[in-house]
Parts: sequence; structure tokens; C-alpha cells
Amino acid sequence: MNPIGPDSTGSPVFPATALQAVQQAYPDRHARLPHKLLGHPLLTRDALAALATRLPETSMEYNLGTLPVGLAPDDTPANGLSAAETIRSIDENQSWIVLKNIERDPAYGALLDSVLAELAPLVTPKTGPMVRREAFLFLSSPGSVTPFHMDPEHNILLQIEGRKVMNLFPAGDPVLVPPTQSEAFHAGGHRNLAWDEAFRDRMDPVTLTPGDAVLVPVKAPHFVQNGDRVSISLSITWRSIRSGAEADLHRLNRLLRARRWPLVPVSGRPERQLLARAGYRITRRLVGEP
Ligand SMILES: [Fe+2]
Repeated sequence: MNPIGPDSTGSPVFPATALQAVQQAYPDRHARLPHKLLGHPLLTRDALAALATRLPETSMEYNLGTLPVGLAPDDTPANGLSAAETIRSIDENQSWIVLKNIERDPAYGALLDSVLAELAPLVTPKTGPMVRREAFLFLSSPGSVTPFHMDPEHNILLQIEGRKVMNLFPAGDPVLVPPTQSEAFHAGGHRNLAWDEAFRDRMDPVTLTPGDAVLVPVKAPHFVQNGDRVSISLSITWRSIRSGAEADLHRLNRLLRARRWPLVPVSGRPERQLLARAGYRITRRLVGEP
């Protein structure tokens, strides 16, 4: 069987220039790259509204999109519509919706597999096998803002419809994300981050129009501003030995900090910190955490 490509013919989603950009930037830096997924039948609004009726409620999150850049998690307002209704009326309803884990739907799972297969030869030698492969669809009304936050996955965001600006910040900057915030995040804390206008100096605004994509490193803080049309973006994500090791070292530090024990430095190559990773497994058992 042919893989599902941009037009269901098996052609690559990422041209050679995109693969070069990934090769140069992955995994530590962000990069803008082209993609060829426009016009894919699984990415029309009708297809997405139909998908929303098949997904469980727990796989969807939607709310009013006219939000400030900095937002406390409990302050997010609801919009009063179903997910499919939100998609069908997205031009008018001032909302933001995410369809999560769409790879659980077989057609979208096959699409994700075929796209990630193009990247695996570049990614695997650097960060190990691509695991926990997930895909998300974001639809947002004109003017929507996704508040300042970070995500735990390696991510490529592909712009399908409309225009958005991904305002990206470097990963691993302790001014943007203090160590205690990382520790709380990896212990199940919310992804939203405290915003300070002084951070704008460190920001790289990456404008995405249909056919553009951006590679986003693990935990690179960002906030997103939608343009004056509806925006549809597909996010393809994976995790790695590196992202898992980094998370474990922050979890270890959370346990150590709570007991006022010395912390472990988290390097740019956490997967090589074998002693500290073993220390996490031992400490977790010692303190009785699952
Ligand atoms: Fe994000």
C-alpha cells in the first residue's frame, strides 16, 4: 500500500529544503520550513467537523479565543457550542479549538506515520527513536491568541489555512522558565507560563502562511497570534530518549528540592546523564512515588 502523502499519491510532505532545515536545527533550535500538505482531503473543514464527531469529548478542548497573552489556567472561558459546531461556525464564533490525539483515528494515524517516516532518518540518529507519536489540529478564529506556554514534545506545526505568528523563545532559558516551573510542569503542572513584557527582547516572531511549517523544540516557550482570517494548523509531535531524560531529571530535582537535598544540573544532553537518571529511579523508590 502506498503511504498517504499530500495528495494521497505518496509524494513527500517535506521537500529537500525542509529536510535540510530540520537537519540543521533539530533538536535544539526552531526553524521555519516549507510543507506540501495543502489540499489534503483529511484537512478540509468538513473532514475536520466529521472528525470532531468521532473523537471522544476528552480529546477536544475549545473556548473563546480572544484571550490575553498571559492567562491563569482556571480563567479560560467556554463558548457554549459543541466541537463540530465550533468548527463549522469558526468564522464567526471567536473561538479556539484543539482536536487532540487525532492519530487514534485510523486515517489520521496513517497520515501521521507517513509524515514522521520522512523525518525519522534525520531525527533518530540525534535523539533516538520517535516515540509517543501524536497529532493535534488547531482551529482558531480571527484575532485569537494562544497564551504564553510550553509543550513537552518535539513538534512541527504545519499551517493549512490562514495566517498566524508563532512568537518563539529559546528552550532552556531559566529566565523564561525557572527550574521550579520546569519541575512543576513535569509533575503534571499546567503548560501556561508567567508572562513578562521584558521577555519580548528574546522573542523570534515566525509568520506562518499556508504551506509554511515551523519546527518547535521541546519546551521552547511560545505564544501564538492569529491573523485576520480563520487559522487551521496541524501539529505533529513525538518524544525521544532526550525529552524523556530531561523530564526525569526535572522530576528528580523536584523530589530533591522538596527535601532540601542538592539538585542535579540538567545539561543540554540529559540522555547522557546516566548516573542522575539512575538516581531518579532510586530516589523515586526511596520516597515511595510511583
Ligand atoms: Fe504550543
